[in-house]
Amino acid sequence: MTRWLMLMSFVLAGVQPAVKKAIPAPAVPADAPSYTADGQMKFPADYREWVFLTSGLDMSYNPKATAATHSVFNNIFVNPSAYRVFVKTGTWPEGTMIMLEHRGAEGNHSINVRGLTQAQDVTGTEIHVKDSAHMKGGWAFYNFKDTGSAKLIERPAACYTCHEEHAAVDTTFVQFYPTLMDVAKAKGVLSAAYLKEIEAKTAPAEGGK
Ligand code: HEC
Repeated sequence: MTRWLMLMSFVLAGVQPAVKKAIPAPAVPADAPSYTADGQMKFPADYREWVFLTSGLDMSYNPKATAATHSVFNNIFVNPSAYRVFVKTGTWPEGTMIMLEHRGAEGNHSINVRGLTQAQDVTGTEIHVKDSAHMKGGWAFYNFKDTGSAKLIERPAACYTCHEEHAAVDTTFVQFYPTLMDVAKAKGVLSAAYLKEIEAKTAPAEGGK
């Protein structure tokens, strides 16, 4: 009898590690946001290896802005683990980072006679991060002055209000990210604010007003 018990415990001991291995630990993705000891966000140096969402040319948020004399591109990248979750679910997971990079536009150089290309120098980088563990309320903005770390842009700020009032999904401008807009529509995750805005734009003008 005791021999049987011993045998059983050997078998169990042999089996246990295999069972443990089969359960995946709740993984923190390698591309999660990271911070300095005093709470500043560290510049994600590898953001150029993230998933490309779009390039905008001369995007301006200021209604009074006049035509720029010098064109500017902005390029938008998201960390790969967050992109994969969005494509599956239509929602941004904790740890989402979306980077906006500015570069001047250049023309008339080398072999091109028309059109504009992007300059080598980056003139600015701003990031939108979803991280409830670090930031009450989830989303936070940071503006990197260099490739060190950046302080949180505190509320109230125009960044938060404009994104909350006009962005298509969870305060992010998915309406301008062509590979993600179909996902958002299919999953029914478009924000109430965005749907109202679209409705107002497409509705026929009311008579007598
Ligand atoms: C008046 C509206 C408005 C304001 C104010 C604004 N943004 Fe945005 N933001 C946009 C639009 C529109 C986009 C879409 C992409 C683009 O510009 O190419 C965007 C995109 C972004 C993105 C890419 C991720 C995302 O959420 O879609 C970041 C990062 C960003 N803005 C940072 C900022 C920061 C930082 C501030 C404040 C200093 C700010 N924005 C203020 C309208 C605004």
